[in-house]
Amino acid sequence: MEQHGAPLGTADPLAALRLLLDDSPEDATTVVPLDAESCEALADDHLVCQCNNVSAGEIRRVLADGSCGSLDDVQVLTRAGGGCGHCLPTVAGIVDVELLKVRPL
Ligand code: FES
Repeated sequence: MEQHGAPLGTADPLAALRLLLDDSPEDATTVVPLDAESCEALADDHLVCQCNNVSAGEIRRVLADGSCGSLDDVQVLTRAGGGCGHCLPTVAGIVDVELLKVRPL
């Protein structure tokens, strides 16, 4: 079977398409995190990702207990942002805020 050089099983579903189109990852859409104040105002039971039923509290928990250390980790473990992608700025914002608590600048 001929290989076309597209990565299989990658965490980035667009990586194979970028390679086929000879498009660099730098051209990918960047997620702009929601501001820290708005993220802090979200209650733990606030449903952040409606596609995959992930709350703000679940995202905070996996960051606080060390299960996740990045946005990618949170997406893989909780599946937040893995559907329509509409929640990604909020997920990214919560990750930024929570990581600053455990890893201050
Ligand atoms: S609301 Fe999170 S992926 Fe759709």
